[in-house]
Amino acid sequence: MKKFVFGTPMKSEILRPIFRPRRLRNNKIIREMIRENHVRVQDLIYPIFIVEGNNVKEEISSMPGIYRLSLDHALEEVNKAKESGISGVLLFGIPNEKDSVGTGAYHDEGIIQRSVRAIKKQVKDILVVTDICNCEYTDHGHCGIVHNGNVLNDETLELLAKTAISHAQAGADIVAPSDMMDGRIASIRQALDQNNFYDLPIMSYSAKYSSAFYGPFREAAQSTPQFGDRKSYQMDSANSREAILEISLDLDEGADIIMVKPAMAYMDIIAKAKEISDRPIAAYNVSGEYSMVKAASFNGWIDEEKTVMEIMTGLKRAGTDIIITYHALDIAKWLK
Ligand code: PBG
Repeated sequence: MKKFVFGTPMKSEILRPIFRPRRLRNNKIIREMIRENHVRVQDLIYPIFIVEGNNVKEEISSMPGIYRLSLDHALEEVNKAKESGISGVLLFGIPNEKDSVGTGAYHDEGIIQRSVRAIKKQVKDILVVTDICNCEYTDHGHCGIVHNGNVLNDETLELLAKTAISHAQAGADIVAPSDMMDGRIASIRQALDQNNFYDLPIMSYSAKYSSAFYGPFREAAQSTPQFGDRKSYQMDSANSREAILEISLDLDEGADIIMVKPAMAYMDIIAKAKEISDRPIAAYNVSGEYSMVKAASFNGWIDEEKTVMEIMTGLKRAGTDIIITYHALDIAKWLK
């Protein structure tokens, strides 16, 4: 008789596998039962761009469905997010006036400070997260103070700390520094604590790469650097050990949530972050990732809902706890 390494010899002599993973793919119920990862509406944070003025709602041409909103419309958008069960909004301010040190970033009457106060007053039960950075507020478009063409690290830390305190005073629930200066988490933590904001969490853009995927955001926020690029502070996309270093530093300095950005091309970094971090991991599914899906689905080349849900599930599988995404309102709808 013919001997098989495994399997049962049949009359036809076809090799029969003993173990068949397809058994558990046979129907929808069984597939749903053994699903390992799930996207929940509670995982989502929705970014919103706020401009000065009233009754402004300008669609961002490279991000269909996403708008620059004046505060009145932004309030409606925050309400929508809350009604759909999304956990938080991430606010970006686009001021009318910019200067060399980004005064608008930490001013008491700055666009974000006014917006946070209004949102906290009018919408309950949704987290207001604020991006801490200077690039939307500086005339040169860099994330820090510039001197002789260099972005100065330590001088910028002071501005970031001031911005964090002003957001905290306005009522922000979480602050999220995105500038990539060295030592910023420690200096922001210290400043918050000195002002009695012990309980305010910091979500750090820990591994933020210098990325072509931010293109549409820079159109949206009018924050394209006027000279050079951001490579002297944002990370090189080739590096992963360096991401671990950045994440370890932020954990040591007191970050409460660690973020990897962008998301899709960096799922290996998310997986590694999950291994070394005892704190939650966020992934930022950035503007260019959104625009690619939108463009392909408008052309009928891919199915938008299936593609987005596959990306989100992939992020969860990689180890993401919190997903920041412009698709948030759609995902909330699809999950229902
Ligand atoms: C500000 C900031 C940027 C993004 C978030 N915060 C732009 C940048 O670093 O150039 C990008 C978000 C996106 O592309 O969706 N520093």
